[in-house]
Amino acid sequence: MSNNPHDPNSKLDVKDDEKHLLLDHSYDGIQELNHPLPSWWNAIFYTCCAFATGYFVYYQFLGGATLRQEFTQSYAKVLVAQAEFKKANSAFNQEHYQAIVADGGVKKGAMVYEVNCEACHSEKGKGDIGPNLTDDHWLLAKGTPGTVYNVVFNGSEENGMPAWAELLAKDEIYQAVAYVASLKNTFAKGGKEPQGEKVIETSETVVEK
Ligand code: HEC
Repeated sequence: MSNNPHDPNSKLDVKDDEKHLLLDHSYDGIQELNHPLPSWWNAIFYTCCAFATGYFVYYQFLGGATLRQEFTQSYAKVLVAQAEFKKANSAFNQEHYQAIVADGGVKKGAMVYEVNCEACHSEKGKGDIGPNLTDDHWLLAKGTPGTVYNVVFNGSEENGMPAWAELLAKDEIYQAVAYVASLKNTFAKGGKEPQGEKVIETSETVVEK
């Protein structure tokens, strides 16, 4: 007799130490050994079943938050944090600005500008979708860091200037402002035509510069 399973005359070859595993039934002459699942496998399986039951009951019957509710809760926190940030930072802080400028703010601001502003204001503030930032005409700001800060922080969204308070870190805004302030009156070649009103430097704007 062979051990070939396709041979109708084959017989199960049961080793001596496996005899106790042989089940006492036989289907058309086929017998099997009982190899129970390893206990670690069973442990994982039953743990998953218990977890799934708890999960189902908690979320179906005990008021577990849905994804939408969790989102609404987290989003409400974001809105509160945003409102707090706006309240705390909406006013231009001259001392902080000077500290930023002293810390290489103009150079860092140039990088912030390149990534966030250049798409609309073109390279070096020449102006494109957004106005020329290198001339002495201003639509919303007056060329001083404080007025530029207000525009950058709050934006002019109905006209396409984003409110950067929601998009950039506070220091990045100050750096961008330092860079924009450094462009003022550099009259870049090939810049967009002046828009808004000409701002004549007063003692106040000179002091702020
Ligand atoms: C999606 C386009 C867009 C981007 C990006 C953008 N701006 Fe503007 N920006 C505008 C437009 C448009 C205006 C004019 C808004 C108006 O007329 O009310 C403007 C106006 C301004 C003004 C006021 C200019 C003036 O004449 O008073 C400043 C300053 C300014 N942007 C700085 C920035 C800085 C800094 C960044 C990057 C952090 C930036 N902008 C990114 C479109 C943009």
